[in-house]
Amino acid sequence: MAQEALLRTHGLTMRFDGLTAVDGVDITLRRGEIHALLGPNGAGKTTLFNLIAGALRPTAGSIRFAAKDVTALRPDRRCRAGIARTFQITQPFARLTVEQNVMCGALARFSSMRRVREEVQGVIDAVGLAAKREAPAGTLSTGQRKRLELARALATAPSLLLIDELSGGIDQPSLPALEALVRGLNRDGLTVLMIDHNLEFVGRLAQRVSFLAGGQLLAEGTMAQIHAHAAVRDLYLGRARA
Ligand SMILES: Nc1ncnc2c1ncn2[C@@H]1O[C@H](COP(=O)(O)OP(=O)(O)OP(=O)(O)O)[C@@H](O)[C@H]1O
Ligand SMILES: [Mg+2]
Repeated sequence: MAQEALLRTHGLTMRFDGLTAVDGVDITLRRGEIHALLGPNGAGKTTLFNLIAGALRPTAGSIRFAAKDVTALRPDRRCRAGIARTFQITQPFARLTVEQNVMCGALARFSSMRRVREEVQGVIDAVGLAAKREAPAGTLSTGQRKRLELARALATAPSLLLIDELSGGIDQPSLPALEALVRGLNRDGLTVLMIDHNLEFVGRLAQRVSFLAGGQLLAEGTMAQIHAHAAVRDLYLGRARA
């Protein structure tokens, strides 16, 4: 059976005054895949996340998720439909504990306190923050904050997780554990769309890659295909290697 698309955007466009940040993007996420979104600074990657998560209403185009048109749904409704995202710049409530921060995520989706507690318990363990449950979020290291950010999003029990710059600011030795974490979540059925500037990290995780530049989808394929794409090399990979 052909793999079913979990998310499909069609002609997705976001204009800010004179600037077209996302320009007619058609992107398809297969259910169960890890898909990476690459592109230079300002390419429109985070804006695309904001459109998919519902923080921004597109100027034009549509978004289908789990066979429903969600283009007009508010962010909280998209969250309940199963879309979660992490933020490029993590902003936990610094004085609240890890557990309380994650609870804020769970409360965005579930109204039963029993369910909220179950989700919170489960995801704190899953991201490896059990020892920090009672710690104020403001005392966490960068890596722990990234895990907390993941936990907050996972507490909404998503089927699609949008991860913005997980490896940014993380020291090299901490990367394999984060990588294993994402791989494990994916193995348990989570579909992932990840933005990341670390090409090795992406290459190890993503089955498919979409490359954005100037708001447009320039190329799509496996990491090897993207590496071989002449325009992508000129714009990004060549420069990154220079
Ligand atoms: N709310 C906004 N209002 C006006 N312009 C915006 C807004 N959000 C993003 N932009 C602009 O849209 C373009 C795309 O920004 P975006 O943050 O999506 O890029 P990005 O690919 O995530 O870049 P980076 O890799 O640096 O995170 C940029 O030129 C940015 O300045
Ligand atoms: Mg960004």
